[in-house]
Amino acid sequence: MLAVVPVSPGDQPKAQRLAQELQTVALEPATDPRRIEQFFSVLLVSGHRIALQQCGRNAPGAVTVDFGSAGMRHRRRGGNNEDLGKAVGVKKRSNLRVLDATAGLGRDSFVLADMGCAVTLCEREPLVALLLQAGLEAARGSDDEWLRMVSTRMQLVPGDATELSANLLEGIDVIYLDPMFPQRTQSAAVKKEMALLQRVLPSTEGVAQPETLLRWALEQSVARIVLKRPRKAPLLDDRKPSHSLQGKSIRFDVFVKRALEPASAGH
Ligand SMILES: C[S@@+](CC[C@H](N)C(=O)[O-])C[C@H]1O[C@@H](n2cnc3c(N)ncnc32)[C@H](O)[C@@H]1O
Repeated sequence: MLAVVPVSPGDQPKAQRLAQELQTVALEPATDPRRIEQFFSVLLVSGHRIALQQCGRNAPGAVTVDFGSAGMRHRRRGGNNEDLGKAVGVKKRSNLRVLDATAGLGRDSFVLADMGCAVTLCEREPLVALLLQAGLEAARGSDDEWLRMVSTRMQLVPGDATELSANLLEGIDVIYLDPMFPQRTQSAAVKKEMALLQRVLPSTEGVAQPETLLRWALEQSVARIVLKRPRKAPLLDDRKPSHSLQGKSIRFDVFVKRALEPASAGH
């Protein structure tokens, strides 16, 4: 269903390594397009950049993680950010340590890191984690000082959040959860990209479901848990939050366990 395609001969070793990680096939550079079209989608490898592209006519745009893109810069000033910052508590302390337990394409994580938070990004899907890793490496190697600085506050930990070691959880102030890909979004382009990801990713059967994730988060020794939900969605697992922040299409349910303490020395 998915093949890894190196754009030039120099990308071949990396393509083979990624194919091994994803337990799929790597094609040769300059493979006959008719052979490529036999796959539903391809992961294109070109230097530091990787992109997921659906094959065939009328395919949506490639899915990639580019924190320096115009879209991400626009998102910095987006309507939900103020609520996201308030929900997490950045006004109470700017250098919060946040675990984004459902990192996805890292958009919310980036916004939080831009606000000054130190963000640990956890992502359980290997393909999504690879896209995220490539985006982080590109940002760290960028000429843009702002982008480099923000990305140094982001650390990726691939794997299931509910299996994180106590070591990685130590010192975390806030757990942020956005467990479901949105069904409806403002932008048709974004919607198509998400639809592609949903089709390529394996079924979530047998893995921790959003309710399990919330229960796990509530058991951790953190000051608060923030859960992003579609605006009108029912309470997850029937758990009543301490308070909610309502946006136009989404809301943040905030579960406060204790006050956010001032940063201790070393944080
Ligand atoms: C809706 S997306 C998150 C989007 C993200 N907030 C953003 O701004 O790009 C949800 C992601 O959480 C991941 N996920 C779900 N449950 C997880 C878990 N238990 N541990 C780690 N990642 C998980 C999914 O694989 C998916 O990539």
